[in-house]
Amino acid sequence: MILNIETGRDNPMLRKKSEIVHEITKKTLRFIKDMEKTMLKSKGVGLAAPQVGVHERIVLITLDDKKILPLINPKIITVSENTTISEEGCLSLPGEWGKVRRPIEATVQFLTTKGQKMVMKFCDFEAIELQHEIDHLDGILFVDYLDDDDINLDNVSGQKEVEKI
Ligand code: NI
Repeated sequence: MILNIETGRDNPMLRKKSEIVHEITKKTLRFIKDMEKTMLKSKGVGLAAPQVGVHERIVLITLDDKKILPLINPKIITVSENTTISEEGCLSLPGEWGKVRRPIEATVQFLTTKGQKMVMKFCDFEAIELQHEIDHLDGILFVDYLDDDDINLDNVSGQKEVEKI
């Protein structure tokens, strides 16, 4: 099932904190499948549950090898001191993008869909995606890091399409 994506920086659905998943049920797994279908249909490379109106701590990211990794209850354990600036876009903020500075590496603890506890270190774009998606679980949008002047809109820039996460 394709889910409806919530949009708008003042949308309360995107500003609410998501809850810890206590049990991975069939319903959880079905929901993750629906998130995947929705993300692919929308040509996004990452998606967080609140973007489809569900306030549970579940995110998807696309890895460098193009596989989609679902993370349940993801939590950043450590980040690198080194940072990088990259241009971000978001499925929930169509037509907006901007340059955000974030740590270039992040070590994240999460549960797999099988309930296995994992700790993994992510680098570069994978790390950026994850930080962006985990922000969604706490009601944070990438534009929150920018001054109004730093936000680009589709109609004023002929730049390349930025991947939406
Ligand atoms: Ni996003």
